Amino acid sequence: KEHIEEVEKFKAESKEAIESFRIKYLGKKGILNDFFAEFKNVPVELKKEFGQTINKLKEAATEKVTSLKEELESKVEEKGIYGDLTRPGEIIELGARHPISIVKNQIIDIFSRIGFNVSEGPEIEDDWHNFTALNLPEYHPARDMQDTFFIQTDPDVLLRTHTSSVQVRYMEENKPPIRTISPGRVYRNEAISARSHCFFHQVEGLYIDKDVSFADLKQTLQYFTTEMFGKSKIRLRPSYFPFTEPSAEVDVYWGLNNEIDYRITKGTGWLEIMGCGMVDPNVLENCGIDSKEYSGFAFGMGIDRIALLLYQIPDIRMLSENDIRFLEQFKSTL
Ligand code: PHE
Repeated sequence: KEHIEEVEKFKAESKEAIESFRIKYLGKKGILNDFFAEFKNVPVELKKEFGQTINKLKEAATEKVTSLKEELESKVEEKGIYGDLTRPGEIIELGARHPISIVKNQIIDIFSRIGFNVSEGPEIEDDWHNFTALNLPEYHPARDMQDTFFIQTDPDVLLRTHTSSVQVRYMEENKPPIRTISPGRVYRNEAISARSHCFFHQVEGLYIDKDVSFADLKQTLQYFTTEMFGKSKIRLRPSYFPFTEPSAEVDVYWGLNNEIDYRITKGTGWLEIMGCGMVDPNVLENCGIDSKEYSGFAFGMGIDRIALLLYQIPDIRMLSENDIRFLEQFKSTL
């Protein structure tokens, strides 16, 4: 009976105090269990009263615990959640897009406006898609230009050196007309410096249809550079790629007559930004496209280079160092 009184008077404000009260009365080794164990030793004539009393105690203790918990919870709600409305909010840190992604998205946007879709493929490639289908058979000297990383010793497992491999895959799976750009990371075994890295990013484009001409290629590139850099002059220089014939290198004029003035180039002049050409008929045939019926053009550019120019970044390695002080600076850019 004394215990019942004590239980009824008990007050607690914390979770811990309520819990130790519960253990004291209702726990395995608690007071109630002791009384229940004692029950068999109680003389028969007192059993009834004893039993009723400990049942009351049990009820009182259980009720107390429940009501204390409810009380506590309602206080937490008042204080914690709706309490101090003048407390400052928590600051949410927003991230920034990486400059490579910003430029990549811009390029995708520009080409998607003239009907190009986006295609992607694996970074680990086989010989066929990176070389042979692109008119670079085994022992072709131009393979050396590519500084390929091979995986282990298997010559058929390599890191793609360009995303032209994605174009091969796309032609194998789709019929013309084809208008696709292939952005992605590529790898070349080159000495790492401020100007070049052993991996970088490309966007390559492919257009295949009936009667596609070199004029279409040039006009498409002029459209691209104008959208990308503002009003700009371009020039095509004859060049060589095994997968295009004829091939050309594209230069953009950086300078006085141009609306853009990128100080990074140290003055004015022509700057090479991509390679291009008419897809070699052999490549079309390798990919199951009839070269008598269809023709097309292809081009490829480095995203990293363009990002360095646009944002005047002095060292290509900054793009892969993950230095937060560098990355934070792109917060205001989409
Ligand atoms: N694949 C070439 C490279 O990696 C670029 C290119 C693509 C050139 C398409 C011509 C046509 O350098």
